[in-house]
Amino acid sequence: MAKPRTTFRCSTCGEEAPQWVGRCPGCGDWSTMAEERLEPAARGDAPVALRDDEVPMPIAEVDSGAFSTTSTGVPELDRVLGGGFVPGSATLVGGEPGVGKSTLLLQVAMAMATGADTVLYLSAEESMAQVRDRAERLGPLPGHLQVSAAQSLPAIEAAVDASGARVVIIDSIQTIHDPGLGSAPGTVGQVRECAGRLVQLAKRRSLVLVLVGHVTKDGALAGPRVLEHLVDTVLSIDGDRQHALRLVRAVKHRFGSTHELGVLEMTGVGLQGVADASGLFLADRRPGVPGSVVVPTVEGARSLLVEVQALVVRSPLATPRRSAQGVDSGRLALLLGVLANRAGCPLGDYDVFASVVGGVRLQEPAVDLGLSLALVSALVDVALPSDVVVVGEVGLGGEVRQVAGLDRRLAEAARLGFRRAIVPEHHGLGADQASGITLHPVDDLRTALLVACLVEQA
Ligand code: TYD
Ligand code: MG
Repeated sequence: MAKPRTTFRCSTCGEEAPQWVGRCPGCGDWSTMAEERLEPAARGDAPVALRDDEVPMPIAEVDSGAFSTTSTGVPELDRVLGGGFVPGSATLVGGEPGVGKSTLLLQVAMAMATGADTVLYLSAEESMAQVRDRAERLGPLPGHLQVSAAQSLPAIEAAVDASGARVVIIDSIQTIHDPGLGSAPGTVGQVRECAGRLVQLAKRRSLVLVLVGHVTKDGALAGPRVLEHLVDTVLSIDGDRQHALRLVRAVKHRFGSTHELGVLEMTGVGLQGVADASGLFLADRRPGVPGSVVVPTVEGARSLLVEVQALVVRSPLATPRRSAQGVDSGRLALLLGVLANRAGCPLGDYDVFASVVGGVRLQEPAVDLGLSLALVSALVDVALPSDVVVVGEVGLGGEVRQVAGLDRRLAEAARLGFRRAIVPEHHGLGADQASGITLHPVDDLRTALLVACLVEQA
């Protein structure tokens, strides 16, 4: 039976097709199908010898997974990872070009190489000289840091052996290739296969493996979305290239929570942790501007004050524009619906722009009430008092729902000098927990608008 020797795979989503098509049947992108050689299925009838970890055993006899972590040497990264890297695991670090992936990982390499372990930094994107120049900018060159320009998989394996490294950083996975595969470097097949082999190597030798991956504009790791399944941890670095602020999050983390946020600032000597993140986020705020609301958010163990801004402009378009930056566009649409139907504030004829200052992405619904007030504040052109923070989830009925961690949010607000908070009616706080902030509990959106003096009593 003649088996097809090749298949076609989409370089965006990994969808497979038996023959070439101009448009991917999976994601609909054009000209993304690339040919890939199929490995012959080598499966004989020979008896299989189980490896130690393949032999079934009673669950109670399995060693408990108290992972030992190794500090990355960058405290903000340790916070996101819950302590540091886990030996034998693979971490993918994604981010747009120029966001600071190479800088951060070189800092990690240098910090980890000041200890007893040897670190191997493989740079396929920059020359050895460029890596050295950058390292000199970041600090004294550590004795245990080795660099190599190996790009093919066999060369990398040999370089890992030759260096005896316990920590291997590969910058970037998109530039690595395996000459044994038919396809061109950078194709999904190559990237996935190489990453798979490297992950196996890391597991076998208990190495800390870190892979850098570029991210496309829409936020997907370029091509290898499939990579996310192969690795244990996926970190993403976000931030505006024009601004110094960088946010590090775990998108996936097999060894801990994905709620922690690392806040760093790009300086002349690399990425430095930001001690007062809320202060930095609010630094450029101009109080008294309509459409601006400060929301106390929580990300893991950290509470952060961020400014949510809205702008509404009467639209000449039949379908007015809706733009959401840092907040979910579906959530924005929902809140516009609730404002129209439950709070008497229709914005159907307006272009609506909503954004979170500082490049932060807010996912928690606790931002709902703040965003709603920002929209109405922009609509009526009345600013909120400058000492007020707003927090609460908004339901479809216009009701304001409680949020978790209110005491921590208010403590952070108090620290930055805010005096009043519009909060859900059922806030569950005792009199002593409000951190000296005057609470204005509200049970629905309409009441919140009244309390904020954005509308008048009907
Ligand atoms: P880089 O780490 O090369 O980004 P990526 O690997 O994600 O593409 O990012 C570099 C940017 O950071 C570059 O524009 C120069 C700047 N930079 C600093 O501002 N300070 C520094 O100490 C270093 C090393 C880089
Ligand atoms: Mg780089």
